[in-house]
Amino acid sequence: MKKFKNNLYEYSDVIVTGGSSGIGKEFIEQIYHLNKITRFYNISRSRPELGFLKHIIMKHYPCDLSSRSERKNTISLLFTELQNVTNRKKILLINNSGFGAYGKFPKPNLDHQLDMLEVNVAAPTHLCGAFYPLLKEGGAVINIASTAAFQPTPILSTYGATKSYLLDWSLGIQQDWNEDNIPVLAVCPGPTSTNFFSNAGFKTAPISGKGSWSGQTSHKVVQESLKSFQENKSLLVTGWNNKVLSFFGSKVPKSIINKISYQILKKMRLEQFQ
Ligand SMILES: NC(=O)c1ccc[n+]([C@@H]2O[C@H](COP(=O)([O-])OP(=O)(O)OC[C@H]3O[C@@H](n4cnc5c(N)ncnc54)[C@H](OP(=O)(O)O)[C@@H]3O)[C@@H](O)[C@H]2O)c1
Repeated sequence: MKKFKNNLYEYSDVIVTGGSSGIGKEFIEQIYHLNKITRFYNISRSRPELGFLKHIIMKHYPCDLSSRSERKNTISLLFTELQNVTNRKKILLINNSGFGAYGKFPKPNLDHQLDMLEVNVAAPTHLCGAFYPLLKEGGAVINIASTAAFQPTPILSTYGATKSYLLDWSLGIQQDWNEDNIPVLAVCPGPTSTNFFSNAGFKTAPISGKGSWSGQTSHKVVQESLKSFQENKSLLVTGWNNKVLSFFGSKVPKSIINKISYQILKKMRLEQFQ
């Protein structure tokens, strides 16, 4: 991969949702390697095990992002903390928390589907809006959407729709915040080897993980994301194969790609449909 200019030293404080595992944890690790003095604020239910990164400056804000009242309390505490940091430079907000559920709607149950809307849609909207005054003083946003954003995703219907929202909304506020000089990057990874698939109820993840045709590692996803962030891009689809599939997926009429998606997605856990 081509070397990129490291401007992450401009960011003294990084807020990550879902920094406890997968892509979020990888963001913390890679940003730490690029800028060792960054302070991290992780918002998630569980605390990350950082292993060799145990000297990292990180505060954990325990929060279930599906709860609006928990979000409000956490945001208020963190906002005050950031306001009082004397040597604060720019803030980077990474909205990464998210989950899916494999099954015909409303499986596994309606509450789970509604929680997904809160975590994948309401939480990034809430955090961006609440931190806007601080971001205006100097800051940027990275939102983790998905290639699921480019077409309907039957059997993962709610998940795909939440990611379509996040992608279009990120591009919208990227324009809204141009004059405020707040860069916004929407990242669309394809299948990535994390806990995502087992948490979503897949029997078999549609990836082998290490450089297979369709799958990427979270290391690669974050490496590409930070490169695009430094190049001031507004949209990244990670991996060349995901770029090709999303391009064609968004060109085919929705009613047709919907049927194709259904045929592909139902093969991922055949026993449900036999
Ligand atoms: N893996 C993929 O194939 C893939 C592809 C495209 C996009 N993505 C997106 O990438 C993002 C990161 O996922 P991942 O792949 O790294 O999977 P992951 O390892 O399962 O990580 C998901 C993160 O979201 C957090 N989270 C889930 N529910 C939460 C809640 N109610 N409140 C607060 N935090 C919550 C989890 O933290 P706690 O459990 O500690 O709360 C966890 O850190 C997600 O938005 C996902 O949609 C993943």
